[in-house]
Amino acid sequence: MGIYLDNAATSFPKPKEVATAVYDFMVNNGTSSGRGSYKKAMQSDYIVYECRKLIGKLFNFDNPKKVIFTSNVTDSLNIAMRGILKENDHVITSSLEHNAVWRCLKTLERDINIKIDTVECSKDGITNPQDIKKYIKKDTALIVFTQASNVLGTIQPIREIGAIAREHNIPFLVDSAQSAGAMKIDVKEDNIDILAFTGHKSLLGPMGTGGLIINTNIDIKPLKAGGTGGDSAYEYQPDYYPNHLETGTSNVSGIAGLREAIKFLNKEGIENIHNKEKELTKYALEKLETVKDIEIYGPKDCEKMLSVISFNIKDKRPEDVGSILDQKYDIMLRAGLHCAPTAHSVIGTKERGTLRIGLGYFNEKEDIDKLVEALNNL
Ligand SMILES: Cc1ncc(COP(=O)(O)O)c(C=O)c1O
Repeated sequence: MGIYLDNAATSFPKPKEVATAVYDFMVNNGTSSGRGSYKKAMQSDYIVYECRKLIGKLFNFDNPKKVIFTSNVTDSLNIAMRGILKENDHVITSSLEHNAVWRCLKTLERDINIKIDTVECSKDGITNPQDIKKYIKKDTALIVFTQASNVLGTIQPIREIGAIAREHNIPFLVDSAQSAGAMKIDVKEDNIDILAFTGHKSLLGPMGTGGLIINTNIDIKPLKAGGTGGDSAYEYQPDYYPNHLETGTSNVSGIAGLREAIKFLNKEGIENIHNKEKELTKYALEKLETVKDIEIYGPKDCEKMLSVISFNIKDKRPEDVGSILDQKYDIMLRAGLHCAPTAHSVIGTKERGTLRIGLGYFNEKEDIDKLVEALNNL
């Protein structure tokens, strides 16, 4: 089966219950949600509703109507940023953003002249929240930060940044692609106004699922307009949630899988999952340090990061190493640039890229041993 170490891209395997739920929905129900009033359509509605509730609860948010489903976090972030930002607005972001944020901001800069300020971080990928303050202006319309870097794994001080954003009445949007399901997130305690999540990474759900938690009353202009299953004679997108930002037929089979994934996370406990992944990260950092000519990026401290580690082997191209690991040892990891060019600039690998492992809940220490053995044999 090979050794899968690319959980930062997408988690694999998924809990069995997740696949079973998707299959079961497709075979035994298969109806659209929010559209019909027959029994099966009501069951479909219930699946979606329960999933909204479970996700809200996971992030300590108690209004399921403002849990919006999207197709992934890229979709969620685009909906939020394009729905909030207007011509000439000012935005503050981190130096570690994934292209899901970065390209969207750059496109808005080109198209509607928004102004972007990027907060510097240390070479290890840690941001000092106080640094945000010097960029705040009268026209700052949004602060958007990734919670954990997909290149270095570093956890950003979201709670402190959120407090600063609140003090200045600026909406705070968080990209939880790497953190949701891998650590505790509490939108209230963490001062998060809008949380963007993806279902297929540490939430352990199917691809094609994601969403937004809208913990704010600010106006988000809908990016899309279309059918919602209700108020069909009204000619515009409804003002009420979730329909305001959700349109078109929902991915109910995916949501059925995501619902089981959240139940699985609740059963295992986010804290236990976090602790196991932390332990694996600690072990991986120690073991990787023993590989000849390795350079590991980031803080090399499992307390400051999630289970994502970037490294290089001296004088070797990451793509070549990745290819040998795959072809000869059946070890799967990511090589190159990881869709986050500014994060690579921080660690000086914008030209070369890195090798990246993303450890998941189903990895074991033996997987790391095999990787280290293979690297030593290169
Ligand atoms: C930090 C971060 N943001 C956004 C994304 C985009 O995720 P998705 O492809 O699920 O939209 C990723 C995934 O690679 C990521 O790591």
